Amino acid sequence: MFQSKIAGIGYYVPKNVYTNQDLTRFMDTSDEWIQERTGIKERRYADRIGETTTTMAVEASKIAIERANTTAEEIDFIIFATLSPDYYFPGCGVLLQREMGMKEVGALDIRNQCSGFIYALSVADQFIKTGMYKNILVVGSEKHSFALDYSTRGRSVSVIFGDGAGAVVLQPTTEADKGILSTHLHSDGADAEKLAMYYPGASGGIWLDEKPKWPEQELGGMLMTAEMLEDGTAFPVMDGQAVFKKAVVKFPEVIGEALAKNNLTTQDITLLVPHQANLRISQFIQKTLKLNDDQVFNNIQKYGNTTAASVPIALCEAWEAGKIKEGDLICLAAFGAGFTWGSALIRW
Ligand code: COA
Repeated sequence: MFQSKIAGIGYYVPKNVYTNQDLTRFMDTSDEWIQERTGIKERRYADRIGETTTTMAVEASKIAIERANTTAEEIDFIIFATLSPDYYFPGCGVLLQREMGMKEVGALDIRNQCSGFIYALSVADQFIKTGMYKNILVVGSEKHSFALDYSTRGRSVSVIFGDGAGAVVLQPTTEADKGILSTHLHSDGADAEKLAMYYPGASGGIWLDEKPKWPEQELGGMLMTAEMLEDGTAFPVMDGQAVFKKAVVKFPEVIGEALAKNNLTTQDITLLVPHQANLRISQFIQKTLKLNDDQVFNNIQKYGNTTAASVPIALCEAWEAGKIKEGDLICLAAFGAGFTWGSALIRW
């Protein structure tokens, strides 16, 4: 049995910087409120036209592939995590395959929101371990800016999220105690509606207290109505406090699970790279686990929450900044909509 190692890593963020102050042009908010509650100072937004979840993923992937000393033609499987795909279907995996001129390899799309990259990494790890694939491209990419409510009505959600992409190439290694040591995945659908975008969807609204008014007709017509755009039902919803409360319990729990599985302790962690949900959540985890400042990496201040892209972007920035060296113990952890959460422990 092989172990999988991250052979190459890359990230891409769009050039358009939107500061908190910039957002005050669209909604009633302030730099002070956003920084105090979330730690975010600015975020990047993709070009409205011409830049998509897939095109950003291509940029990040090119860097990861080059750093892995391989080529797009050598990639033998693609795993793409996003909640903001270019199309409702097909997923971004096939668009990435096409845009990068890859062989007719399998392309799997992951829909696990903020923990999407950890889920994707875990799936890739299993395929490498069994010897099924040798060069897997794992991507997390998001273009949130196309679908957020930038009016005052949507401010508690829209100020948090940003656009960007991160990618890694996973390859087998026979070096003992090297690479991904273990991954741990969880879900609890009890609060599925607390952080969600309900439409378009086949539910017809049955899980919700307030049902949308669909047109009077026998079949179809339940995709999205003009009324839903006007009253805001079309946009993502978030019960911020419910998310916060659950996240600060589940993050430490799943990190502890990974450490226990490998007979390690929090002192052994060189760097924790948590999903960049909210700086206050990261600080809470750091305090709970009694980690010092050098043991936790945060970059939400610059990019906001980029959902499935946040872990690979942060991991890549930390690596580029020289904070990750061979032999270091790196812990990745994420929590998000679903709720779903997970962790991965890596010996670099
Ligand atoms: N600017 C200014 N005021 C805002 C605002 C904004 N962007 N968003 C909300 N407010 C206002 C609210 O309208 C409310 O006003 P009121 O008291 O007059 O009614 C007030 O601020 C407090 O709102 P509330 O939602 O209770 O704030 P909060 O302290 O819970 O902070 C979050 C909101 C979203 C920052 C916080 O709940 C949070 O960080 N949750 C976790 C979210 C997260 O991590 N999501 C990512 C999931 S992976």
